[in-house]
Amino acid sequence: MRSHYCGAVDETLLDQEVELSGWVNRRRDHGGVIFIDLRDREGLVQVVFDPDRPEVFAVAEQVRNEYVLRVKGKVRPRPEGTVNPDLPTGKIEVLGLELEVLNRAETPPFQLDDDDVNEEIRLRYRYIDLRKPEMQQRLLIRSEITRVLRNYLDDNGFMDIETPMLTRATPEGARDYLVPSRVHHGEFFALPQSPQLFKQLLMMSGMDRYYQVVRCFRDEDLRADRQPEFTQLDIETSFMDEDQLMWLMEDMIREVVAKVLGEALPEPFPRMSYAEAMLRFGSDKPDLRIPLELVDVGDVMAGVEFKVFAGPANDPNGRVAALRLPQGGELTRKEIDDYTKFVSIYGARGLAYIKVNELAKGREGLQSPILKFLPDDVVDTIMQRTAAEDGDLVFFGADKTSIVNESLGALRVKLGHDRGLVEHGWRPLWVVDFPMFEWDDKSNRWISLHHPFTSPSEEHLDKLETDPGMCHSRAYDMVLNGTEVGGGSMRIFRSDVQTRVFKLLGISDEEAEDKFGFLLRALEFGCPPHGGIAFGLDRLVMLLTGSQSIRDVMAFPKTQTANCLLTNAPSDVSETQLKELNLRIRRKEKDA
Ligand code: AMO
Ligand code: AMP
Repeated sequence: MRSHYCGAVDETLLDQEVELSGWVNRRRDHGGVIFIDLRDREGLVQVVFDPDRPEVFAVAEQVRNEYVLRVKGKVRPRPEGTVNPDLPTGKIEVLGLELEVLNRAETPPFQLDDDDVNEEIRLRYRYIDLRKPEMQQRLLIRSEITRVLRNYLDDNGFMDIETPMLTRATPEGARDYLVPSRVHHGEFFALPQSPQLFKQLLMMSGMDRYYQVVRCFRDEDLRADRQPEFTQLDIETSFMDEDQLMWLMEDMIREVVAKVLGEALPEPFPRMSYAEAMLRFGSDKPDLRIPLELVDVGDVMAGVEFKVFAGPANDPNGRVAALRLPQGGELTRKEIDDYTKFVSIYGARGLAYIKVNELAKGREGLQSPILKFLPDDVVDTIMQRTAAEDGDLVFFGADKTSIVNESLGALRVKLGHDRGLVEHGWRPLWVVDFPMFEWDDKSNRWISLHHPFTSPSEEHLDKLETDPGMCHSRAYDMVLNGTEVGGGSMRIFRSDVQTRVFKLLGISDEEAEDKFGFLLRALEFGCPPHGGIAFGLDRLVMLLTGSQSIRDVMAFPKTQTANCLLTNAPSDVSETQLKELNLRIRRKEKDA
């Protein structure tokens, strides 16, 4: 139905006849001449209808926004003064010679060029929303990114292998989406949170290098960069160590960024230990574009009379840290109050600060509600350690280490954005040397920081039982501009080590046998050393397209409350279906 895409008609086609199909982006009547901007995936072209051809003109008069048209016409230069340099088709227009309305359209619920449409409406009418050039562009780039990734892996000997969607729970730490079995009454499949166990089994099968672009399902609290179903680029290899794998993976990401954006990423990516990342940035996914850092001051606070600082400073699980904001002296009382409110989201009970007016004047040159609690030598040390200068402001966090890290870590990012301190470009980073376990106060036990199949580092193997808290794992995360785009590890490939790790995690022999017996057995039948990684494809696309939300790079995303407004899923099911599944819906307690 067409000779060219609308967006591809340019001056190289002057005086030629073209056939176009597309949607009416806009129709304008100009003194007896009708202009229609016809739109398709590739862009817009201006089609002109003049009254010299009355039959065609009459049809053009009836056309409204979003009608679907087929046009035959002749390409001609735009008259002088009407050239549009912003449009690839801006030098030409098409004189309409034939016009057919392929379909009419109701008035759309929103204008495509309206940037202020409520997201609910956009999601309800997603098929219209997706007609927007920027949405089409994002999905086009997504498709390109996926193609480059696949090509890279294909060229490097990786096999694309599918794994089951109806499976058992895999412990990635979120809640499972369950699917009831009709055949086996009272039993459920779980949708995979990741193909973790299957990809490990594929290594045991000798597949050597596996990848899959695969949907994963996690029932967890949603955020701008989290969806209940999302796509991973999932990868596993045998007989490679972490250095080789990390090099290959960063090479792949370098290739994507080079091919899709034409930009160069550093080679190699820098690496940072988990401990250093937490100490300097309060986060295991630091955004290195922001030139602000946390500085420990606990040692000098241990003796001060200000209990708010001395308490955490003397607590082995506490931390007192400072964060200098260059030129932060400009902040108003109200802005500081707002930041105090902001850190309280992360559990911080306050946000002490010192304004540095004039360093040379000593105490007199400083301004702070807590100054009176701090002796001179302490103040001096703080100023030196934070490298404070006149006009700066130094914030403080004092609490349990995790609260200080989370609150000041988030504050650092917020200040970076609010104060225009975010540097341009791409700052990739590998975070390595993760702790193997993390103590969970709620359940009173050790839990895996990555997942229970991650190998402890060789040198800590003998400390597994005696000092689990200091054991490092062979895990690594790839971080790009403050977003964790991928994470993986070398796996446990000996059944005795796997059994020890299960035990440490409080997984009993029976539970281990019930849930992971198949894995433990497989480890006994010739398992190669192996390891892998999974990239969050949606997050990667979100970053590379500069999108604010993961929803903007998914064709049909779910809302923050995990439903699909387009299809109204999830939904009730019929009595018959419930009966077949032997299920009965319990009324919510408050309704009962
Ligand atoms: P992990 O749980 O770190 O590792 O997930 C890998 C990557 O997937 C992305 N991601 C998400 N993206 C969107 N919405 C979500 N809800 C979501 N959750 C995770 C992140 C993350 O880095 N099996 C292991 C990988 C391995 O060890 O090989 C795993 O799934 O970008
Ligand atoms: P207060 O003595 O509670 O009035 O607190 C004095 C200053 O310390 C105020 O600026 C508070 O915001 C700040 N502050 C209180 N608790 C903390 C904390 N845990 N960490 C950092 N600053 C705090």
